[in-house]
Amino acid sequence: MNFTNLLTTFENGILLVTINREKALNALNQQTISELIKLFTEDALMLQGLKGVIITGAGEKAFVAGADIKEFSKLDAESGKIFARRGHEAFNLIENFDKPVIAAVNGFALGGGCELAMACHMRVAGEKARFGQPEVNLGIIAGYGGTQRLTRYVGKAKSMELHLTADMIKADEALRLGLVNHVVPVGEEVTKAKEILAKVATKGPVAIAKAIECINAYYKKNVNGFDLEIESFGDCIDTEDAKEGATAFVEKRAANFKGR
Ligand code: HXC
Repeated sequence: MNFTNLLTTFENGILLVTINREKALNALNQQTISELIKLFTEDALMLQGLKGVIITGAGEKAFVAGADIKEFSKLDAESGKIFARRGHEAFNLIENFDKPVIAAVNGFALGGGCELAMACHMRVAGEKARFGQPEVNLGIIAGYGGTQRLTRYVGKAKSMELHLTADMIKADEALRLGLVNHVVPVGEEVTKAKEILAKVATKGPVAIAKAIECINAYYKKNVNGFDLEIESFGDCIDTEDAKEGATAFVEKRAANFKGR
């Protein structure tokens, strides 16, 4: 894979993606957003045996400190909407990716950084991670899905408070609020994310993809998630993997799923 702002390694079925702009605290400039879109529409799809993706930030200080503020001055109403829409495109691709994507949050996850983490299917935070939507400090609002996704995770009252005050919260508070799945010692974020993905990798890939799709459907206003679950259950039960899963259960052995 050939990117300017993303470092990638692929090992044991896990694609580790590092946002690599450490001097700017991994702020998401337009180039990085474009690279994420390319990654989730092209490069990742070509990997044989991909089981899951981990997204983290370079260095010890930040996961991602937001969209790149230095690109804001040239924006007007029209180009601002295009700017926001492009980020939505990238983050929707992540949210709807058919393999699990975990954010390993190794430091500041602010603004677009918090929004990137929230688009992932799960979040593992280091003890020193900080989360926030500080856009109102800049006279703007979140534009990469933060008003919607933070509200889903933490509820309206806390989402209002975080967006309106620009306060940052610590990892343990994020855990208490349901924003992150796990808090781990500093430096162990990627290891924990790998541990989760290794567990998921033993399950039926079709079932994993369907579970992601159905859970996401809960938040889609134009999709009936209950209907989709019924359809998806039917699709799953008719796979070779489902036959193998039931046979393996009866034979008291581990299932050997093929993804079909
Ligand atoms: C561009 C950034 C940046 C950002 C940090 N840097 N955040 N550059 N965009 N979002 C740069 C700084 O300019 C500085 O570069 C270097 O990274 C180190 O940052 P410092 O501020 O010196 O570090 P520190 O004092 O430790 O403070 C850390 C921080 C602070 C609390 C994270 O950097 C900060 O508040 N950053 C902005 C956070 C933010 O407002 N994010 C939301 C952005 S809006 P130099 O060259 O000076 O050394 C957004 C909207 C998304 O995300 C939706 C758009 C549609």
